[in-house]
Amino acid sequence: MPNTLINVSNRLPVTVEEDRVTKSSGGLVAALEGLPEEQYKTKWIGWPGAAFPEESRRQEIARKLAEEHGCVAVFLSQEEVTAFYEGFSNSSIWPLLHYLPNYLRYEPAWWEHYQNVNRTFAEKVLETVHEGDLVWVHDYQLMLLPAMLRAAAPNLKIGFFLHTPFPAYEIFRCHPRRRELVAGMLGANRIGFHAFGYLRHFCSTVQRLLGIETELTHIPSKGHNSALGVYPIGINAPKFEQTLDSKEFHRRREKFRLAHEGKRLVVSVERMDYTKGILHRLEAIDNFLAGSDKIDAIRFIFVSVPSREGIEEYQHLVEEVESRVGQLNGKYATLLNSPIHFIHGSIPFVDLCALYALADIALVTPLIDGMNLVAKEFIACQRENAGLLILSEFAGAAEELFNALLVNPYDSAAVAGTLTDALALPTEERRNRILPMRERVMRYDARHWARSFIDDLVSGPISDAQARPAAERGCYRHQRPFPGGPGSISGRPSFPTHRRARRQLTGSGQEGVGTIGSQH
Ligand code: F6P
Repeated sequence: MPNTLINVSNRLPVTVEEDRVTKSSGGLVAALEGLPEEQYKTKWIGWPGAAFPEESRRQEIARKLAEEHGCVAVFLSQEEVTAFYEGFSNSSIWPLLHYLPNYLRYEPAWWEHYQNVNRTFAEKVLETVHEGDLVWVHDYQLMLLPAMLRAAAPNLKIGFFLHTPFPAYEIFRCHPRRRELVAGMLGANRIGFHAFGYLRHFCSTVQRLLGIETELTHIPSKGHNSALGVYPIGINAPKFEQTLDSKEFHRRREKFRLAHEGKRLVVSVERMDYTKGILHRLEAIDNFLAGSDKIDAIRFIFVSVPSREGIEEYQHLVEEVESRVGQLNGKYATLLNSPIHFIHGSIPFVDLCALYALADIALVTPLIDGMNLVAKEFIACQRENAGLLILSEFAGAAEELFNALLVNPYDSAAVAGTLTDALALPTEERRNRILPMRERVMRYDARHWARSFIDDLVSGPISDAQARPAAERGCYRHQRPFPGGPGSISGRPSFPTHRRARRQLTGSGQEGVGTIGSQH
């Protein structure tokens, strides 16, 4: 077993706001919370969620995070928040990973910041890591980090997990830094995806962009070998069971039951993001309500957690959603009911569970989603209830949740029709659908996900020794010279001292992604 598992993600599991430390939102945090502490000593390296210009404040936050939360803070300046986080990561990579090139915005200056922040993360990892530790890098904000670490510490065990879809080559190629990004990921010993389709797209993208002949199990390279695998993420199952057993949960569920008495409840919970298909869903609700003669007997509850509010597209989305909800409530409200109950904010975990447990239906219709843990959370809360899940066929979760009612989120009429059918299903059939899925969701949870990935990272199965002959056999097809690409990382000394490693990162003439120039 590893000495320590060092999780590196852009966002720490906690966010620091003014004087408060709160839990960060999002699927990654929820899943990693479920890592088995008895098995892995875990450390986190990441950003505390806001820019703190004063040095004394940074020191105070760093101390508090280290002592109370086991976290190593990476601070970003306001300029970096704008250029690295809102710009490069969330305005250029994010839309392409989600097949939405119309949302792609790109400013060349962002690239410098993306490289610099990845380098800062690399320095923090090298200051923190000890021989025998495992480093697990998460997500698209840190795509260059594996190759930077590989260049500085060739013997380090590095895992990389992409929590989003990986799109088809024709989409990913729109990114001006497409080659550097995939080459950066190849610094990892193992790269994980939620679904097989994403892995396949990654392989063909590497092959087309870097000229490396890839296998579905691994990508051979001169210096090392990147194994590939599919690991669908799960939820923190024990946390759900404990909450469902709590008195507070029962109190809250009863309170909500009384507040919504006589209504069928349809819930949607998500970050306020254009990938989640909120406007398309409202279209479907319009369709449904237009054809319904029981408007007083149904209530749609939306919990939309504020997200990436500094980005223009996200601000427009909030305005549009709020205006559309207002229009629909104006159109369909009666003296007894306003059909859409919209919360732009987050709610306590116990309330979320109570809401899921009370709901008749969860309407989870992203246009595309790497996994979608809300679908699994809803199922986890159906211990006594027999709620139904209506799920977008374009969510990674659709590959696993075999009894969900799958819909195409772009087809509002069909979504409305499925909603009508779902409301009419007898309880018996609903239970028969939900129970086998619940069993699966509770068994293949976040712990299982993390354990499978880490076990595979530790044990191989594709060793560098196996990969080397393949590379030496010349298995590169139509390869173009690519300075700093995976093929350029070779023949380094073993585990470097931290100081030497840092010099390699910042100094001139080093290989790896840190020095990739304008070729792309
Ligand atoms: O899936 C991508 C992801 O990075 C998740 O880890 C998380 O759920 C979400 O996006 C949060 O985004 P942000 O850190 O931008 O709030």
